[in-house]
Amino acid sequence: MRGHDPYKAEHHYPLPLGFNGRWAGLYRWFSGRPLNGHRYTDATGFRHGTMSLDVSGHATTFQLMPGAKRFLVARVPAMLSPVLVIAWLLGHWLLVSIFVLGVATVLAPSVRSSWRTRTFRRNVIEPLASGVAAVAKVKYVDRLGHRSVQVPENFRDLDMATIRVDLPPAWLGEDGDKARLTKLVAARLNLEELSPSWSLHGAQPSVQFSVPPKPPASVTFAEALADAEATEDSAPMIGYGPRRKVELFSLLLESPHALINGGSGAGKSVLLAWLIAQFMRRGFGVLVLDAKFVSHMWLRSVPGVLYASEDEELHNALIWLDGELLRRARLVSKASDTDAASAALVPLVAVLEEINTASNRLRSYWKSIKSSEDPMLSPALTALANLANMGREMRVHILMAGQSLTAKSTGGPEGRESFGARMLGRATGNAWRMLAPQIKPAPVKRQKPGRWHIVVGDTLREFQVPFVDLKNETAKDSTARLIEWATGGKAVPDVHEIMAAWPSGTTTDEAWAPRSEAVPDGISLRQFADEQGLDLPKLRRWSERLGFPAEVGVGANRTKLYDRDHLRTWVREFLREPASADSD
Ligand SMILES: Nc1ncnc2c1ncn2[C@@H]1O[C@H](COP(=O)(O)OP(=O)(O)OP(=O)(O)O)[C@@H](O)[C@H]1O
Ligand SMILES: [Mg+2]
Repeated sequence: MRGHDPYKAEHHYPLPLGFNGRWAGLYRWFSGRPLNGHRYTDATGFRHGTMSLDVSGHATTFQLMPGAKRFLVARVPAMLSPVLVIAWLLGHWLLVSIFVLGVATVLAPSVRSSWRTRTFRRNVIEPLASGVAAVAKVKYVDRLGHRSVQVPENFRDLDMATIRVDLPPAWLGEDGDKARLTKLVAARLNLEELSPSWSLHGAQPSVQFSVPPKPPASVTFAEALADAEATEDSAPMIGYGPRRKVELFSLLLESPHALINGGSGAGKSVLLAWLIAQFMRRGFGVLVLDAKFVSHMWLRSVPGVLYASEDEELHNALIWLDGELLRRARLVSKASDTDAASAALVPLVAVLEEINTASNRLRSYWKSIKSSEDPMLSPALTALANLANMGREMRVHILMAGQSLTAKSTGGPEGRESFGARMLGRATGNAWRMLAPQIKPAPVKRQKPGRWHIVVGDTLREFQVPFVDLKNETAKDSTARLIEWATGGKAVPDVHEIMAAWPSGTTTDEAWAPRSEAVPDGISLRQFADEQGLDLPKLRRWSERLGFPAEVGVGANRTKLYDRDHLRTWVREFLREPASADSD
């Protein structure tokens, strides 16, 4: 027997009979034990360790593994690799490659999942555990947070998730500590409301939090109208959250603009239509910059709405908007009472649909029109980057939507920063990293259309958007109802008129109001066709005929207006002559 070595730890693995002396190394190798014979943790051959036995008090994940697992992950590769290298050198490279590839394929899923667990622990569990330790007044042990804090990795995507936090024995939760703890957990996990259930008695006191249930699976337009009408003017409703809570988008944010990022078919246009309709009811002028032409067909027939789709229209609208913002800023800054000056401005909402397409088109449009003295970068794109920089005093809100709102399409990363709210639907992990990196982990489950998240600062809220049927899928008169509701509130300012009078000034309410009354009486061909049940294209063709009544004025959106009686008489006369009608 050798004498006791005073520098060696006491806890050696017991060696089976016959493995003393020179066999000891062999036994330790094949049983996955540390080769120096020291026992670092209480792990055994097939059971995970639960604590460190080392004087340092620390144990690595590897040391906590059962011996068999340690053998598999460390000793087997160590034995195999020389064999593989020799085989490779001998020219069996195909065999070696196939073998290595096979092993990689088998191991990939578990490597990935353990990588995910590690990231989750580092980003979510450990910060939470350190906060909990501070509130519970215990020492925080780095990297061991997952022992006392349990959070399902996919808690954002689960329908009902439970979070459990173990508390130190004899913790009482006095002096508001309980409330502090609840608030901390909610804040660190970007959750809005948590309901705790405490169990402070027994050997292991703990608290369980239930994550709020998911928002309703679907909501119709009609169902949501009453709630939307009940909201304050300063906060339109975006949809329903957990327990049908009405979720809002506050226009009083420092930067009251929204980025709307959604994959194809996520429901961007539906969400926008829902918001636009509410803005209209609140008396906002509407500009739609729609590079896709058909995103909001319902708005094309609404008087006063500026609808830009052609390259030139997009370009001009952006330049105008930029100039208008500057003018408003000057106006407000010069006023003695800035609040009053700001309140007198005509409120506007600018909707930028399919911004990725728009910005590409603006770029090439500028190339085609610019002269050699002009700047390289399209002034419209420069304007785009500046739009959201304006605060709430200007009373212009920007809603910018696209499939993947990269810095390039939104006018540079600074441009993107200035959007106070970000709404994400069916967003990829990449989109979350780009637009809301503070939300960890990001919800990534592929959601049904209409399910969105809104991020404002560090808060994350999930909501279901009421379904606005823009294509008359559910009923023939869906869009008509939408228009009726949207225009059923305060008068909607005529953006065309405001633009036409620019820059001398129709920006304020007083300047604008009298003009709106001056809209001539009359009826558009579309209205007349609807009233009389006539075919609009046919009526349009007739209008080019000699003798067709002359227009009596120009309405919103530059539509020609006619006298109803003149039209009625002419059509009656015309239809009396069957030959001419048939030849049409
Ligand atoms: N809130 C909602 N509730 C139920 N269904 C919805 C909702 N929003 C959208 N949908 C469904 O998804 C379809 C696509 O919606 P929408 O056109 O708004 O998507 P989009 O993101 O604008 O798509 P695209 O990228 O093609 O423009 C709708 O026709 C509808 O069937
Ligand atoms: Mg769309």
